[in-house]
Amino acid sequence: METPIIDFIKKYNEAKTARFHMPGHKGVSFLGFENIDITEIKGADDLSCPTGIIKQSEENASGLFKTKCTVFSVGGSTQSVNAMLFLAYSVRDKSGNPVVLAARNAHKSFVFAVAKIGAEVEWLYPEKSNSLCSAVITAEVLENKLKQMKTKPFAVYITTPDYLGNVTDVKSLSEVCRKYNIPLLADNAHGAYSAFLNEPFHPVQNGADLCCDSAHKTLPAITGCGYLHIEKNDYFGFSKKAHNAMTVFGTSSPSYLLLQSLDLCNKYIYEKIEDDLLECSEKVKLINRLLNAKNIKNISCEPIKITMDFSTVQSNNFDFAEHFRSYNIEFEYSDKNYIVFMASAYNSADDFNKLASAVNSLPEFSQSTVTSLFDFVKGEQVMSVRDAVFADSEEIPVEDAVGRVCGAPTVSCPPAIPIVVSGEKITEEHIALLKYYDKTHIRVVI
Ligand SMILES: Cc1ncc(COP(=O)(O)O)c(C=O)c1O
Repeated sequence: METPIIDFIKKYNEAKTARFHMPGHKGVSFLGFENIDITEIKGADDLSCPTGIIKQSEENASGLFKTKCTVFSVGGSTQSVNAMLFLAYSVRDKSGNPVVLAARNAHKSFVFAVAKIGAEVEWLYPEKSNSLCSAVITAEVLENKLKQMKTKPFAVYITTPDYLGNVTDVKSLSEVCRKYNIPLLADNAHGAYSAFLNEPFHPVQNGADLCCDSAHKTLPAITGCGYLHIEKNDYFGFSKKAHNAMTVFGTSSPSYLLLQSLDLCNKYIYEKIEDDLLECSEKVKLINRLLNAKNIKNISCEPIKITMDFSTVQSNNFDFAEHFRSYNIEFEYSDKNYIVFMASAYNSADDFNKLASAVNSLPEFSQSTVTSLFDFVKGEQVMSVRDAVFADSEEIPVEDAVGRVCGAPTVSCPPAIPIVVSGEKITEEHIALLKYYDKTHIRVVI
């Protein structure tokens, strides 16, 4: 597979051209990569409406992901989430209030995108969940909700896979959405690689009309790299507007380091990813076997993610996170019940050996009878998300927040899923949940 962006910059760098253009470092090495950090000079194309090397590289990506069109993001999934909402909003039924119907485990980027376009949100709650991170919505739940709604939403929005590795059945949801002629939008920030598995569960290959991926989360790409994908049938004609939508929310100086990284990802995907994923999932299976021997479950449905569930063992306050850190292992996420380890083919044998040793040295826990079920707090929306996000606000201790209206959601990364949504009236139940997630302060509308 060709790498047109990398090839162009390599040639440009070798030509030793006098750089009387941005960036100001002029290719001189400070951090070490400046010589290949350029801007939109002649021949380098324009990410906002590509016709040259960026177009070629995006088309390569589109072929690999089997989409109608794939647009590069240099603002991670966040930029694509904004663009997805914007695109769906642009084809909405103009009568009535614009409402987006979203699974409640949406990332904060969704809430901020809703605020920016000025839509309302109605939440979809799962039949059962084990965490704030998980809201797997079934076709039945979606259809029942749609039947009850007086105003048809302009989009249905889901997050799959979620932070813990739960995967939604996108195909069945897309059939419901098709029936109601509503675009299905999928936040697949954690699942770019899933297009290249033996049994792919990438949303855009299973009927999501629009889908965002963070390339940097599961592919060997630099932080900030992402994609916006448009499904191959393009029922809503999004492909013609996709670059414009991304431009509305992106920088006018896209990083060519990130574009080269995405260009190189194409080559990696084409040449190597399938074998790498198989190899990595075999290593994960090995860890799973060690975990089983300790009575600890990996609840992730993803083959390269390990979500250790400590909620079902009698652990007597054993500090799992610190146990793994004592083996010089850092993981993606932990809370009181789970630790999430994200693996890739670029984890070394030594990395996996460390993880195996850390698991092997865990005590053998006995199973507890407790099953950890999570209840979402169904907050009352007393102000629009937009008004609350853009309102003047102050940060106060969570104990003092009952009855106040949430401003910007109090969430840290990861998993950055709002515990209280902007515009919701804060209740005792919210406070309990905020405390459960160790939040001491919350931003409220003044
Ligand atoms: C589910 C989900 N969606 C969207 C994002 C935003 O992705 P990015 O950091 O690539 O902008 C994240 C980031 O962690 C995420 O976890």
